[in-house]
Amino acid sequence: SELTIVLAESSAGAPQMGSELGSRAILNSGLLKALRDHFKQVHICEISAKPSLEEDHDHAGMKRPRTVSKATQSIHELVYSHTQQGRLVLTLGGDHSNAIGTLTATTGAFNSKHDRRPAVICVDAHVSINPPEASPSGNIHGMPLAFATGLATSQEKGIFDWIQQNHLIDMKKMVYIGTRDVDDEERKLIQQNGIKFFDMNDIKKHGIDSVASMALEYVGEQTPIHLSCDIDALDPEWAPSAGHLVPGGLSLQEGELVVRRVHETGNLIAMDLVEVNPTINVDGVERTVNSACALVRGAFGLSV
Ligand code: ARG
Ligand code: MN
Ligand code: MN
Repeated sequence: SELTIVLAESSAGAPQMGSELGSRAILNSGLLKALRDHFKQVHICEISAKPSLEEDHDHAGMKRPRTVSKATQSIHELVYSHTQQGRLVLTLGGDHSNAIGTLTATTGAFNSKHDRRPAVICVDAHVSINPPEASPSGNIHGMPLAFATGLATSQEKGIFDWIQQNHLIDMKKMVYIGTRDVDDEERKLIQQNGIKFFDMNDIKKHGIDSVASMALEYVGEQTPIHLSCDIDALDPEWAPSAGHLVPGGLSLQEGELVVRRVHETGNLIAMDLVEVNPTINVDGVERTVNSACALVRGAFGLSV
């Protein structure tokens, strides 16, 4: 089969810069060669958010909204067309706001072609579902699932006005794994909308293997899967070069088990790997990049 790699080199959704360097750091650590050996054909596309000259002042609780909207719209168009052509898509971030583009694209493409929506498995320390008005930070990397589900919308010209109804992911086919840092409003939204999650307590209680089984059973056997991995789901020990370190996370082994189980379904259609920031904890970059590569390799069934 064919793989498309999208280098989503934008950190405009995060409070600090640096994650725009994550895409290349991950790809150039031996991963590209491994993927080229594994897939019949590998396409590489690049999207970067150049700091724009025009002013991008805050809007409705969002920082740099026009820059992020523009970058994610480009990602959306790219991922949409490659998904429609039946290619697997790997998006390397960049911060998690880039997933606004990828999630709306796979859902839009499957909706139009097959009249059904993919499941979304989000591996993250956070639920990344803050509506702008409730966000404590205004950083859009805390909001991707809010826009992708339609819980957040914007009619403002140039600010996520490109997102259409048929791009929206199905909240009933969405599941989180590894969460442990959830804001109050996010908790309410998860509850009100019955969104499934397995937090770190669930993982301690049941073990990662049965959590993976429960998550996959929940999304169903015949459902295409979009896997959105925020590297901060891993414990800082395994991924120290990330913007928002939350202790008590997944070991690399646990993370690898989850992605391998997703691979084994044969239903993976897209993967995001975001929030690797090579400018943070510079001594730990190699370790973080290795962890990121291990997750990608596991998700695509490459040998260890
Ligand atoms: N929930 C917080 C916010 O909305 C933190 C999000 C951090 N996200 C991340 N991918 N590091 O700002
Ligand atoms: Mn996170
Ligand atoms: Mn996230």
